[in-house]
Amino acid sequence: MGNIIIDGGRQLEGEISVQGSKNSSLPILAACVLVDGVSVIHNCPSLTDVDAAIRILRHLGCKVKREGSTLTVDSRNIVNCSIPEELMREMRSSIVFLGSILGRMGKAELSSPGGCDIGLRPIDLHLDALKMLGAEINEKHGFISCRMKRTKGAAISLSFPSVGATENIILASALGVGRTVIHNAAREPEILDLASFLNKAGCRVIVGKQGTVVIEGRRRAFSSEHRVIPDRIVALTYMSAVGAAGGDVLLRNADVSSFLTVLPVFEEAGCNIVPSKNSLRISMNTRPKCVKNIRTMPYPGFPTDAQAPVMAMLSLGYGTSVMVETIFENRFKHVSELSRMGARIKIEGRVAIIEGVESLYGAKVKCTDLRGGGALVVAGLSAKGRTVISNLEHIDRGYENIEENLRKLGAEIERT
Ligand code: UD1
Repeated sequence: MGNIIIDGGRQLEGEISVQGSKNSSLPILAACVLVDGVSVIHNCPSLTDVDAAIRILRHLGCKVKREGSTLTVDSRNIVNCSIPEELMREMRSSIVFLGSILGRMGKAELSSPGGCDIGLRPIDLHLDALKMLGAEINEKHGFISCRMKRTKGAAISLSFPSVGATENIILASALGVGRTVIHNAAREPEILDLASFLNKAGCRVIVGKQGTVVIEGRRRAFSSEHRVIPDRIVALTYMSAVGAAGGDVLLRNADVSSFLTVLPVFEEAGCNIVPSKNSLRISMNTRPKCVKNIRTMPYPGFPTDAQAPVMAMLSLGYGTSVMVETIFENRFKHVSELSRMGARIKIEGRVAIIEGVESLYGAKVKCTDLRGGGALVVAGLSAKGRTVISNLEHIDRGYENIEENLRKLGAEIERT
């Protein structure tokens, strides 16, 4: 797999384009299972998680073709309703195929995604909701077997606005005969993107502003074409890199409206930000300032996925920043790696106290999870000396061409 080597301390200058969203592409690829036709998905990033979704689709019987960032999924002949354990294990978010296989085939068999890199990640909310839609579920030794006749719809209140559970409910109820209403649903931009794809395919999914999603069951979904939204977390990672290393960068294909509430954090840190319709310019010419209080929250709050990269930037901040992680119980694993580079961060339960240091120093570090990997790249770009980052399989799950993009901005970064 190799290492990423960064000779840090260079300002970032120039422009790059932000990739399509991973967290939109995966549920949309799962939604293709519902379609009795051919779906053309543009702006789909080349990532190992997307490759894993393609392998699942092919296993189910879909024909999948990639041309550049366009995927064509022909799901007219789905033959399987089960996903083997090794495919389930490749990607935690494979669980979102449960709803779509069940919706199309009336039964689904898969192993629970299990494992843990940022917390327990249970799926109880997914399964309880599917039961309310009429699914019979058997769980034994980590295997889940579900059966469901075409749903007649239900009213489901989630105790937490889980992104994955909301997606599974939408997927399981899009084909059916009744109306499903989800209260306290997730309203991340990726949910809207999934709804937008399904509506183009002839389904009816209405995402309300106040956390209510209404799904009117339809008999069938048909061929359509869709463009995946830009990846807001990748945009925020590149912004953190500019905040930490300094410079002046134009991010093209950035949907600023999907992370408007995060901009004040960068402004408080001293970044100069000029947003426009499909791009954002960020510049920074001093050391960042601390940000007193950041609390990760469901959308539109500060995204948990941006916590690690932003923490890397704040580890250089004048003064002390505080970050509270409210979504996942074990999402500070990158802290010990940042500490190897000279960061001064104390963890107390779900709170990180970041006492900014004047410089970080290059070191040998390991990615602990996807966004933790993004944080190490941000830290390496700003650090004095050479940083060697290993365990790149995490980074490759979510960041497309990260070295190439950063090299375009003048960074000294390569993969060995
Ligand atoms: C999705 C994103 C992930 C992001 C997360 C939160 C994808 C592929 N992944 O993950 O990048 O970090 O949203 O924005 O889109 N929970 C339960 N029971 C459940 C489901 C969730 O207790 O059945 C808890 C989780 O343990 C966690 C919280 O709810 O503490 C949030 O999880 P959820 O919103 O479901 O995240 P994912 O969909 O897994």
